[in-house]
Amino acid sequence: MQDQFIIILCLFLVLFNPFLVISLYQPFNEDMLGLIVFKAGLEDPKNKLSSWNEDDYSPCNWEGVKCDPTTNRVSSLVLDGFSLSGHIGKSLMKLQFLQILSLSKNNFTGEINHDLLVTLWNLKVVDLSENSLFGTIPDELFRQCWSLRVLSLAKNNLSGTIPDSLSSCFSLASLNFSSNRLIGELHSGMWFLKELQSLDLSNNLLDGEIPEGIQNLYDLRELRLRRNFFTGRIPESIGNCLLLKLIDFGDNLLTDEIPESIQRLTSSTFLSLQGNSLNGSIPHWIIELNNLEILDLSSNRFFGLIPNGIGGLKSLQVLNFSNNNIFGSIPVSIRELKSLYILDLSDNKINGSIPCEIEGAISLNELRLQRNLLVGRIPVQIAKCSALTSMNLAHNKLIGSIPSSIADLTNLQHADFSWNKLTGTLPKKLTNLTHLSSFNVSYNNLQGELPIGGFFKKISPSFVYGNPLLCGSVLNHSCSSYHPKPIVLNPNSNYNNSRTSLQNQHHHHHHKIMLSISVFIAIGAAISIVVGVIVVSFLNIHVRSSNSHSNFPFGLPDGKDYRSSPEKDPKCGKVVMFNGDVEFTDEPNNLLKEGNEIGRGGFGIVYCVVLRDQKSVAIKKLIGSSLTKLHDDFEEEVQKLGKIRHQNLVAIDGYYWNSTFQLIIYEYFSRGNLHKLLHDDNSKIVFSWSARFKVILGIAKGLAYLHQMNIIHYNMKSTNVFIDFCDEPKIGDFGLVNLLPTLDHCVLSSKIQSALGYTAPEFACRTVNITEKCDVYGFGILVLEIVSGKRPVEYMEDDVVVLCDMVRSSLEDGKVEQCVDEKLVGNFSLEEAIPMIKLGLVCSSHVPSNRPNMAEVVNILETIECSSEGQQEELQ
Ligand SMILES: *[C@@H]1O[C@H](CO)[C@@H](O)[C@H](O)[C@H]1NC(C)=O
Ligand SMILES: *[C@@H]1O[C@H](CO)[C@@H](O)[C@H](O)[C@H]1NC(C)=O
Repeated sequence: MQDQFIIILCLFLVLFNPFLVISLYQPFNEDMLGLIVFKAGLEDPKNKLSSWNEDDYSPCNWEGVKCDPTTNRVSSLVLDGFSLSGHIGKSLMKLQFLQILSLSKNNFTGEINHDLLVTLWNLKVVDLSENSLFGTIPDELFRQCWSLRVLSLAKNNLSGTIPDSLSSCFSLASLNFSSNRLIGELHSGMWFLKELQSLDLSNNLLDGEIPEGIQNLYDLRELRLRRNFFTGRIPESIGNCLLLKLIDFGDNLLTDEIPESIQRLTSSTFLSLQGNSLNGSIPHWIIELNNLEILDLSSNRFFGLIPNGIGGLKSLQVLNFSNNNIFGSIPVSIRELKSLYILDLSDNKINGSIPCEIEGAISLNELRLQRNLLVGRIPVQIAKCSALTSMNLAHNKLIGSIPSSIADLTNLQHADFSWNKLTGTLPKKLTNLTHLSSFNVSYNNLQGELPIGGFFKKISPSFVYGNPLLCGSVLNHSCSSYHPKPIVLNPNSNYNNSRTSLQNQHHHHHHKIMLSISVFIAIGAAISIVVGVIVVSFLNIHVRSSNSHSNFPFGLPDGKDYRSSPEKDPKCGKVVMFNGDVEFTDEPNNLLKEGNEIGRGGFGIVYCVVLRDQKSVAIKKLIGSSLTKLHDDFEEEVQKLGKIRHQNLVAIDGYYWNSTFQLIIYEYFSRGNLHKLLHDDNSKIVFSWSARFKVILGIAKGLAYLHQMNIIHYNMKSTNVFIDFCDEPKIGDFGLVNLLPTLDHCVLSSKIQSALGYTAPEFACRTVNITEKCDVYGFGILVLEIVSGKRPVEYMEDDVVVLCDMVRSSLEDGKVEQCVDEKLVGNFSLEEAIPMIKLGLVCSSHVPSNRPNMAEVVNILETIECSSEGQQEELQ
């Protein structure tokens, strides 16, 4: 009561006779008076200002108040987060020497006094953020603001436009008007504030284009314009603000491509262009911004590939490209993103498989790959990403089983595998995941019993919808009715195109072929040697003639116009890359040289070439051009082959045609081919049983897909199967026969099929039609080769051992397990090996109709895998 009386008295006296006050109350200086009056107008529910006592000699020790030691006048008033409410009244303008005024995080209301800065012209820092101020920012406020360095009015309810007069506050280093309701366009006067280091206008209703002239802010480090209605392009001149570290244009209406000048901003750690309508491809130079920690290009219209060198962004913590039209595969360089915390590529058109190199991303916390076109298996290596708490792979085309290694991700809380094509049983060890709160496998083809315990004890049925073969008490679907059927393959039975026959134990009356397989091989070998001699001499002539011309295609050094060359025929001599945006580091003419040669085959020489974006490709130079089709036919065929994309087929990336020779540009696999991995004595790595199984299954799938596309490979052999670092096989060299002029296919294909031991017997007899079953034969031989680690035909000192004959007789003698590669002794599953060997023999039956088709082979292999996995689970 008494306090209030004194305050009211003071107020009265101040307002009507300030001179009197000073003379009467000596300790009261102007500052004290201003503060006391200011306090009187406030609600102070937490009593934060209890130390403000008018009986004090000076206010310099009051809470939140600081004085200049020389003048003893109040220089700083910092009342952040004091829960004060009321108005920022005129009384504060008594504090003539005030330099810092910070009232952030309170409940101040009312309008901003337009005389504030005029009266308090010493003010350097004004922070009124996080209050409930309303009204417009008065134009007069900035009449006298030369000393102002920091101004924040963020998080209030201010409306109206940003006053033009602001441009006279030329000392401003930090300006924050974010989270208000400001409208109108941004004026180029903003770019007169040359000292600005930080500008935040985010979360307002600003619109129009971002004006030119931003390059004047050469000291700018942080630019936040997020969540407004800005339209038009991102100004090209932004690339001159070389100190920019943080760039946020997110959630606006910006269009067009990312300006190329941004590549100069190599100090930037944060770049968000999220939620606009930007288009074009993701620029390959993005990998030059090598200090980036956060890169968010999500929810735009970007298309094209993820730059291969993205792994070079070593500091990257968040990579978000979600919700665009990105295609192509996930670059293997992600293994180098050590520090990556969130990877979000969801809602795109990404195909290919999840690379096993994901294992390198050991800091990864969230992996979001949902809604893409991913194929292949979930790599077991994902278990190395031990920090994962959330993984979403839903709505893809993933196959195979859920690897039991997922159970090693001890931090996992959320996993979504719904809407894929996953098969097999759920690993029992998943019950070890103690933090799991959602695990959605709906709409797959999983089977068998749900794990018992842990998260699965009370699992909601909506986590497992749409898997009719899953069982368990939670599902009201007892498991007793479910038993995997044993597989019995009888290589001597007459294969009649139905899987039940494979499960038939009875010996069919079998049908001996008069000629022994060795005779066929001898004939095959003879044919191929003769053909080989002819082709080689023929090609030699052509190589010489094409070398002497050497008018090379890829010409133009700037790389821009490499698709067209000034030859007369405009279609002639152009490189076509299906994905459009790769460049050669040098004239490819120089790149196709001996040192880069990686192989030779019936069709030509293969070179490895590194493109400008660090990606390696294999380039096959087709020689023997008189065999090749005319340009249009060639182009049509290659384009057709280029569309064939499968996890187990080597993709064709592009091609080149001229009349003397042609090039086909392929994916490159640095690990090499299956032949090398199996038979190269120098290779120290023993190819494990599970890797071999994976390779066989993959080859089967690749072939099945080719046959589904009506393409016969004709030349299945281990040198034509490449292996990536996840042990995934990739069949190469398919479809090349179609590039030759249409001659008699039977004759032609026997010419091409030159690999000893893989040749199906029907090639030797001209009356039999060659069908895709010749590939099944080659596949059968490959299976035996992979399981046994032996070549199809081995030359001993004075003997020739034909692999499939040897395996067949071991089977007859009941010693089939002795056929398994001795390097695997003790480390393979006999339950898988025996049916696998039998399958190899069935596939290499002499009579084509006795061989299963590749789709059936895939089914059989998956059944072999499942039933042995089931047994392993039971053992545990
Ligand atoms: C502002 O006032 C409201 C009640 O009027 C209170 O709930 C809120 O905590 C206050 N805000 C601050 C920052 O003190
Ligand atoms: C699991 O995913 C399916 C398919 O997306 C969905 O319908 C279901 O609601 C999800 N279950 C839970 C519990 O989120």
